[in-house]
Amino acid sequence: MHNFLPIAYFRNQFVPFTDANISIATHALHYGTAAFGGLRGIPDPQNPQQALLFRLDRHCQRLSNSARFLLFDLSADKIQSIIVDFVKKNQPTSSFYIRPLVYTSDLGISPRLHNIEKDFFVYGLELGDYLSPEGINCRISSWYRQEDRSLPLRGKISGAYITSSLAKTEAVESGFDEAILMNSQGKVCEASGMNIFIVRNGQLITPGYEQDILEGITRDSVLTLARDLGIPTVERSVDKSELFIADEVFLCGTAAKITPVKRIENYSFSTKRPITEKLREKLTAITENRDPQYQDWVYTIPL
Ligand SMILES: Cc1ncc(COP(=O)(O)O)c(C=O)c1O
Repeated sequence: MHNFLPIAYFRNQFVPFTDANISIATHALHYGTAAFGGLRGIPDPQNPQQALLFRLDRHCQRLSNSARFLLFDLSADKIQSIIVDFVKKNQPTSSFYIRPLVYTSDLGISPRLHNIEKDFFVYGLELGDYLSPEGINCRISSWYRQEDRSLPLRGKISGAYITSSLAKTEAVESGFDEAILMNSQGKVCEASGMNIFIVRNGQLITPGYEQDILEGITRDSVLTLARDLGIPTVERSVDKSELFIADEVFLCGTAAKITPVKRIENYSFSTKRPITEKLREKLTAITENRDPQYQDWVYTIPL
């Protein structure tokens, strides 16, 4: 069971989480016509009187963009100010995850986005490690990532997550921890809720935006850090066979942070992962506000 934060933002006000409930006739529940965000925060290890949120502005902008696909006008500034108040009201004492969601809140049938009421809520939960930081085993999913011509993949559209769910369950039920999905072109795309990186001959490689990936904020952070550390990086299509002969493979995302991959199918990787470890140490230091160079990635909220 999850430990939910006690206060939610629901129908334009802050209410106890247990009072924030929706009807079984809610349109979004039937058609997946919603979009969500996911951010991590921690109480500041140096000063428990404040909380730290990683790249709050980017998360709010992405959710605002996702809302546009649903024809819902919700500015990044408005989302940000609600999230800041949400954190102040909840006074978190351990690491937490914030889940904002926009959705068609109307009651009634017929899939559409016009002439329909929409709403926005925020709730949160305590969240430790989502995947084992020691490393995980992955399978290649038999499900393929959707294409941008079928739905807007630059948004985190709820309905799209049926594919992630099928892939994750298939992986776990066949003895793996996580799934790696190919795109419709048969190129490496991403995992069920994380972007993917490989290292070959000292170069960091990740599929580009044109590969139908989600525009991950952790991915963007990793690329920036790698470039600043002088690690050669390239965004390009990646073949499945390259995965198996990579020197290092890791997944990254808000929930998963940087998670090393130990094995894909029957191909095992070395436990020496110099680039993965370097990036992971750097990212951890930044999220804990111990790295002055990237302070503008960390939003401080007085509690
Ligand atoms: C499908 C998918 N890919 C990648 C990511 C990683 O994105 P981010 O780093 O912004 O959390 C997520 C998580 O939001 C996701 O759901």
